[in-house]
Amino acid sequence: MHKDRILILGANGQLGSVLVDKLRERYGVDHVLATDITKPKIETGPFKMLDILNVDRLHETIADYKITEIYHLAAILSANGEWNPSKTWNVNLNGLLSVLEVAREDHIKKVFFPSTIAVFGNTTPRENTPQDCPLLPETVYGMSKTAGELWCNYYHKKYGVDVRSLRYPGVIGHQSMPGGGTTDYAVEIYHEALKKGKYTSFLKKDTRLPMIYMEDVIRATFGIMDAEASKIKIRNSYNLTSMSFTPEELAAEIKKHIPNFEIDYQPDFRQAIADSWTNSIDDSAAREDWGWKPTFDLASMTKDMIHHLKPKYQHV
Ligand code: SER
Repeated sequence: MHKDRILILGANGQLGSVLVDKLRERYGVDHVLATDITKPKIETGPFKMLDILNVDRLHETIADYKITEIYHLAAILSANGEWNPSKTWNVNLNGLLSVLEVAREDHIKKVFFPSTIAVFGNTTPRENTPQDCPLLPETVYGMSKTAGELWCNYYHKKYGVDVRSLRYPGVIGHQSMPGGGTTDYAVEIYHEALKKGKYTSFLKKDTRLPMIYMEDVIRATFGIMDAEASKIKIRNSYNLTSMSFTPEELAAEIKKHIPNFEIDYQPDFRQAIADSWTNSIDDSAAREDWGWKPTFDLASMTKDMIHHLKPKYQHV
């Protein structure tokens, strides 16, 4: 049995709900404590209600469960964040600060912090976005993650906290739904294609964004967390990518499986957010430092998504 004991903050989200089970497979069910501010739909092991801003409860939880590693996933995403900027800053940035401080005081071995393509902005090079580049994000979510990256770097350099971070592209998976992001269309489209045979995209047909399949996100996350500390040379956050496509290209791929599928486009406020992000990412630092390599592309992801979701909508 593994000695490490894992705490997941924000376990009910798109990624958390998948990562909890993957971590339980690796560490044992009772070695992974899932926490969030609401109860999960399905409990697959220990769960506790926990608000990341409640520092005393965080300390108590770490002591009670003898936690050695933290995956801090709790955040308000890009589109939802715009409805309440100060709350988003508070949850995303002050939440991270409380986690980093608790990690320092309680001698947590490793912390994972997801960053995002939302740290990029209109001054960032759009194609093959380099690791080090101008970051002038347009959303409060992007601002909080940019500042968060700097705090991770600071806590590592100043206090030796072993915090590791990835700039996730849009995440697509069949297991869970995203909530309140700008890349959410790329998950919704599969469900609507199978349910209704049509989808209205809230982004224009030629909006190209970097994306990644859930299986690869999990592999990347375990890849960086398993690596020797000396290999993690970047302590703000690593660029990460797998594929880039537009809504039109995604629809064409879905059509190969569902020939009658139709798409139309009604861009809303999320278009401006997507326009401020970049088209493709250079993740060579992650590849060189700790061996990152994606396995899914648009065609294999689409095949897998439809394979898993089809039974769910068979009788609709
Ligand atoms: N998927 C996120 C969003 O759209 C980006 O990190 O907000």
